[in-house]
Amino acid sequence: MSEQMVSAVREAASYIEQRAEAEADGPVSLKELSDHTGISPWHLQRQFKRVLGVSPRQYDDALRMKRLRKGLKSGVGVAGATFEAGYGSSSRVYERAAAALGVQVHGADAIELNVYVLPLDPRQDGASIERDTVLMVQAVRRAVKVPVAVKLSPFYTAFASLARQLDAAGADGLVLFNRLFQPDVDPEALEVRPALQLSAPSELPLRLRWLALLAGQVRAGLAASGGVHSAVDVVRALMAGADVVQVVSALLLHGPDHLAGLRAGLSAWLEEHEYASLDQLRGSLSAARCPEPEAWGRANYMLVLRSWRTLARHA
Ligand SMILES: Cc1cc2nc3c(=O)[nH]c(=O)nc-3n(C[C@H](O)[C@H](O)[C@H](O)COP(=O)(O)O)c2cc1C
Repeated sequence: MSEQMVSAVREAASYIEQRAEAEADGPVSLKELSDHTGISPWHLQRQFKRVLGVSPRQYDDALRMKRLRKGLKSGVGVAGATFEAGYGSSSRVYERAAAALGVQVHGADAIELNVYVLPLDPRQDGASIERDTVLMVQAVRRAVKVPVAVKLSPFYTAFASLARQLDAAGADGLVLFNRLFQPDVDPEALEVRPALQLSAPSELPLRLRWLALLAGQVRAGLAASGGVHSAVDVVRALMAGADVVQVVSALLLHGPDHLAGLRAGLSAWLEEHEYASLDQLRGSLSAARCPEPEAWGRANYMLVLRSWRTLARHA
């Protein structure tokens, strides 16, 4: 091979590197490389592989994947790392995530994807955020053999629609809901501080509504997370439509032994109320099965508003 051809290949490789470095949307096309080096696309493709052992496309891809891994490690988030690597949209990364990022599960019986999206970039619209989430779940579902649960926040415009899309994408479980930590203002210290607050049972009804609306409507199992503190809370979540419950704050407050108390309390409740099994309880008050499904919607709004007087009397 002539010196001239080797230097043209090196020139093409350096052009690809510059484009990746500039975070330009990739990959660089063969036509662009051909225009840049003055060598025909077909010839350049063959000579590139002979000199560097990979095609221009593979070379470009390897560079961008390296940048992506670096970005992910630096903590800029998936969207930021994707942009920095020049992938344009996360969906293109998710499509090849399994092979490119080497997603593997060792030893775990299942995994839970915690979708913690805080869309601070005003250029990102709701539909693209949801699409990215669905594609991510699809990619992970294809890449691993163990069951995949998806934990979501309630802050989506049409939660039922997203839940159905994730169900169709192969999610084995949906966990309702994540609690996003909210920063707080300390007026004395003049500081914005991250604030951790443990949950309270008053947070459970938001979960109950969506569990009740989704129960029987999706193939995925449903988990309640957020506000489950007592055995009666477990009963409430199961009745609404949860298959299982998750408990964190109550265990932090009362210690790990609280779990045994919850199980014993649940058994006692079932016995006292003459339920033969948990299955009899599960979903018995879901929207599809309860006598008044409209109660899960916005029914009796004026009546609800007026009930503040009773609350005030008991306060
Ligand atoms: C100290 C603390 C750490 C947490 N860390 C995580 C985490 O790493 N990943 C996650 O998905 N949720 C995390 N969560 C959220 C919990 O898994 C759970 O969704 C939330 O606390 C609501 O459930 P709870 O009412 O039982 O506490 C954390 C919660 C607390 C209190």
